[in-house]
Amino acid sequence: MFITIEGPEGSGKTSHIKPLAEWLGAQGYSVFTTREPGGTSIGEQIRAVIHDLENTEMHPRTETLLYQAARAQIVEQVIQPRLKAGEIVLCDRYADSTIAYQGYGHRQPLEQILGLISYATGGLLPELTVLLDLDVEIGLKRKTNQEEWNRLDAYTIDFHKRVRAGYLEMIKQAPARWAVVDASQPWEVVHAGLRAAIARRLTPAQP
Ligand SMILES: Nc1ncnc2c1ncn2[C@@H]1O[C@H](COP(=O)(O)OP(=O)(O)O)[C@@H](O)[C@H]1O
Ligand SMILES: [Mg+2]
Repeated sequence: MFITIEGPEGSGKTSHIKPLAEWLGAQGYSVFTTREPGGTSIGEQIRAVIHDLENTEMHPRTETLLYQAARAQIVEQVIQPRLKAGEIVLCDRYADSTIAYQGYGHRQPLEQILGLISYATGGLLPELTVLLDLDVEIGLKRKTNQEEWNRLDAYTIDFHKRVRAGYLEMIKQAPARWAVVDASQPWEVVHAGLRAAIARRLTPAQP
């Protein structure tokens, strides 16, 4: 099963991944966690270019294509082989981030974005995507307290508001794949919401 976690900056995605994997592991599932962009040697190199605060001249099309290059690599090298081996793959961001950030955020044409994603992923979609939904100003404030401030975090508040609205629009269009958890709640409450969303979709672990 392929599960992705999405949401604006500071919504808590990274903080929940490891404890979710441990919780699933304790139930007998084999779980592999990874993140986008990155998750492979090539992908982590591309991540550094995308996130570098010095790359202020990067055009949205360049940014969009770099994400797809990293994504093609992680799908082929990591995600597909793990899924074929029967593992649960839990990924911190995936293709929906491109629709939200490069599509809605940068206002790149959605049809073309969807075509690029399809090419990069070979059509691989998650079975479940959980949106950690949060007011963007609260999320960005949470992130300023830590060291991981990157080039995308530094985009305007209006950009981040379009990203959040984009996620909500995607859910309206394909509700079956999504679950939404209100990420403004205390961490433990959000975590319980994530567990419940995943538990509803799981089939029992094979002995
Ligand atoms: N529900 C929550 N309430 C308050 N702070 C939170 C909550 N969830 C996460 N945080 C904190 O917010 C910051 C950003 O979390 P992080 O997991 O890095 O978010 P993301 O990966 O979605 O950008 C971290 O310092 C984290 O501890
Ligand atoms: Mg993160």
